Amino acid sequence: MNVKSIAIYLCIIGITASPCCFGQENNVPSGLKDAYNDYFKVGVALNTHNFSEEEQKLILDNFNSVTCENAMKPGEINPREGVWQWEGADRIANWCRQHKISMRGHCLVWHNQFAEWMMYDQKGELVPKEVFYQRLRSYIHTVMNRYKDIVYCWDVVNEAITDQQRPAWGNQPAGTPYRESKLYELCGDEFIAKAFEYAREADPEALLFYNDYNATDKGKSQRIYDMVKKMKDSGVPIDGIGMQGHYNIYGPSMDDVSAAIEKYASLVPHIHITELDIRANEEMGGQLQFSRQNEEIKPYIQILHAYQYTQLFKTLRRYKDVIDVVTFWNLSDRDSWLGASNYPLLFDRELKPKNAYHLVKNFEPYRDDSLPTEDFQPSALNQPEQEYPMVNSEGYARFRIDAPQAKSVIVSLSPEGSGGTVLRKGKDGYWWGTTDGPLEPGFHYYHLILDGGIFNDPGALNYFDSHRWESGIEIPAH
Ligand code: XIL
Repeated sequence: MNVKSIAIYLCIIGITASPCCFGQENNVPSGLKDAYNDYFKVGVALNTHNFSEEEQKLILDNFNSVTCENAMKPGEINPREGVWQWEGADRIANWCRQHKISMRGHCLVWHNQFAEWMMYDQKGELVPKEVFYQRLRSYIHTVMNRYKDIVYCWDVVNEAITDQQRPAWGNQPAGTPYRESKLYELCGDEFIAKAFEYAREADPEALLFYNDYNATDKGKSQRIYDMVKKMKDSGVPIDGIGMQGHYNIYGPSMDDVSAAIEKYASLVPHIHITELDIRANEEMGGQLQFSRQNEEIKPYIQILHAYQYTQLFKTLRRYKDVIDVVTFWNLSDRDSWLGASNYPLLFDRELKPKNAYHLVKNFEPYRDDSLPTEDFQPSALNQPEQEYPMVNSEGYARFRIDAPQAKSVIVSLSPEGSGGTVLRKGKDGYWWGTTDGPLEPGFHYYHLILDGGIFNDPGALNYFDSHRWESGIEIPAH
């Protein structure tokens, strides 16, 4: 173990010498925003309860972009005709002005938390769409003008694309790619174009975004792409795409994240990750049922969670030229919209940084592009005839496990203090993974963790350590 791995290990078991594992004496940047200075801004969604002294310190140390979690939504600001409620949005905006932190505006048009009244007359009937457009234009101008000094971009339209498009069948054409909301019923897709036009008029300086969840899903990303392309081709001013990023510990795969970013980047110059959280259950996306049971988070779940975060940030760093900001959806698990038992953020319910926080912050840039040399050989301590595990000349170890029923497989060995190497299921049905870097030369005990249960690696020989028979692997010395 080197000094850094020892420090991370101490963090995992709860022993910290200072509020953070790595003091500035090591020249490690102090907060997330500093660590990502050369990459993108790091943002956070806040509500009006987030301003205790302790929370303000966390915000100021770590973030350089702020989104209102709810306070700038139309339903909050202008719930009824003539009723304007600025208090929440003003409080957060004024705090940002005072601390010189610029804001992402969220959001102007959405089928939820919307100023529904704009679409109806006094009898409760839908108004002609022209009436709606007049009201919408006036709303967009009023709100954007009030915050144009502090808001650098707006989610102009949120979640207008459907999750499931009915495929063409026989003589039946395919279903609509749009969400069948009241907005769509009233205006078709024209409300999207109008909202962007009004927003550009109101503040020509602000960057304008289309924002959605499940934006890495293959079908949905194609629908988002097609819609934005169609709009842009007809002159609608869309500057960027917001990928919300409500992910989970099992997905999406980094291949899907990369493919979506590349697809969107071919169309717009700005991509924002707008609402990042990684939940501990299998749900994904924007409006699903959440597990809110007060469960303890098992250690293997914490490893999967940290792994998904570190892999995601590694992937996002590769696209720093097109990604301007990555915003977390809430400050800590304490007030996450998913509930603390979903374990979604980098700060826990006590506002303490998790191991995932340190791993995301203290990355080593040179590792981002370094791949292991492909001279892997079966480990000298394998069972007869077994190919895996393998080791290479630099000390990386590679594992292949056959566990068709498992939802997750972790190897209890890692060089980076993450607590283990997470394997991912390949197209061939095996679980595959390579350590994040070289292991120390010499003999290592290890085991597999399958959905929390401990097993030995059938490919390796077994050795007795002080507690149990463990698998063994030998990393050759130079
Ligand atoms: C969520 C807020 O976090 C909750 O407090 C609120 O009750 C519902 O909305 N996609 C979005 C966000 O664009 O505005 C949503 O925020 C989360 C899903």
